[in-house]
Amino acid sequence: DEILMVEQILSEFRLNKEDLKEIMKRMQREMNKGLHLETHEQASVKMLPTYVCSTPEGSVCVLTEVGDFLALDLGGTNFRVMLVKVGEDEERSWKVETKNQMYSIPEDAMTGTAEMLFDYIAECMSDFLDKHHLKHKKLPLGFTFSFPVRHEDIDKGILLNWTKGFKASGAEGNNVVGLLRDAIKRRGDFEMDVVAMVNDTVATMISCYYEDRSCEVGMIVGTGCNACYMEEMRTVELVEGEEGRMCVNTEWGAFGDNGELEEFRLEYDRVVDETSINPGHQLYEKLISGKYMGELVRLVLMKLVNEDLLFNGEASEQLKTRGSFETRYVSQVESDTGDRKQIYNILSSLGVLPSELDCDIVRLVCESVSTRSAHMCGAGLAGVINLMRERRSQEALEITVGVDGSVYKLHPCFRDRFHKIVRELTPHCEITFIQSEEGSGRGAALISAVACKMAACML
Ligand code: BG6
Ligand code: GLC
Repeated sequence: DEILMVEQILSEFRLNKEDLKEIMKRMQREMNKGLHLETHEQASVKMLPTYVCSTPEGSVCVLTEVGDFLALDLGGTNFRVMLVKVGEDEERSWKVETKNQMYSIPEDAMTGTAEMLFDYIAECMSDFLDKHHLKHKKLPLGFTFSFPVRHEDIDKGILLNWTKGFKASGAEGNNVVGLLRDAIKRRGDFEMDVVAMVNDTVATMISCYYEDRSCEVGMIVGTGCNACYMEEMRTVELVEGEEGRMCVNTEWGAFGDNGELEEFRLEYDRVVDETSINPGHQLYEKLISGKYMGELVRLVLMKLVNEDLLFNGEASEQLKTRGSFETRYVSQVESDTGDRKQIYNILSSLGVLPSELDCDIVRLVCESVSTRSAHMCGAGLAGVINLMRERRSQEALEITVGVDGSVYKLHPCFRDRFHKIVRELTPHCEITFIQSEEGSGRGAALISAVACKMAACML
């Protein structure tokens, strides 16, 4: 009956089909609000134009720029600088090669001033250029910047607000490309031609588009969670023009910030939010993404300990410490083959000696939290895809979704649970999912290659 009581507590995480349909509908309502000029300001889902477009005929602009591009990737688990070589193979199709280097962002650069952060970025670029003997060249640069940006053009946009634990002061409200250019100028030891700035969802979509021309959606489930998709130009009211499609960065992580998710948020979600760097913001993201998943599990474990249902009612100091249960442990616990070895090792590394039953309960907790994450996220994507089908008045919609992010790629079951629920919620749609490899680097370089030549956006 201990297990029954645990199951009772965990049952709160279960979302039934009706719940999911309701969440999906509310998401669509917010998306439409975000698109319309009159309601845009109030919408929690900002639906930001990206200036990445396709032509009215849906025709594909042929890339004509071959050569070296530099790409920056800021906002996921790792900060990366990449060299992307865009060329042609024997069959004259596009070939992309990348060399990349990861740099860790020191805490004080993340939470200090914008100047400190961008000086650090420029320092890493300088180091990378030295290593590849490219200092003398003025390369075109594509910048994958994975935060909400209000674009004025593909190479210009202001940061609306930081998310995912970043907090460098003096960046919000400023042109991000300007901040980067200023930092490069301050150093003065290399030059760079910043030609495009894109969100990671957009870079992911573009990189997959080059493999599959039906790829008109990009999604990330990693540190953060977000999606973009190709919307009919005439419904993107923030930008003039009627023809063709423009990619919209939904910034759906902020869904719920106007109270749309209240009845689905649990006591653990409230604690995660209240102790975060941005309380009251990114509430949907906080139910789903990797930045918060481990901590959610830890809070549930603590609840079970306090109810005397786990670890003999006693937690270690480590387990009592915020952030100690890392999101990767959730993947590891759920990958356990049944002998409980992995679960046991993780828990003992956290200072508790679990019984077999304890191990099984910890696994149930992880499954509850990560399944809810997959289902919540699935409702969002189903909302996007059903909206696309409506817009296009198609009987059946065939669509490909490009995906990236550590939760999607590394969790053993997230992907299958997610695919299943999305398909259940999208009748009359044929959905293909592809994982993007090196999405940000390739995507940023490819869009730069287009932006370079056309000075306008075309996919
Ligand atoms: C990476 C992309 O692979 O995935 C990044 O290159 C993106 O641009 C990231 O932000 C998202 O996943 P995570 O888990 O690193 O946040
Ligand atoms: C956060 C950011 C968003 C990004 C997502 C995934 O939600 O606000 O821009 O796409 O994380 O990295």
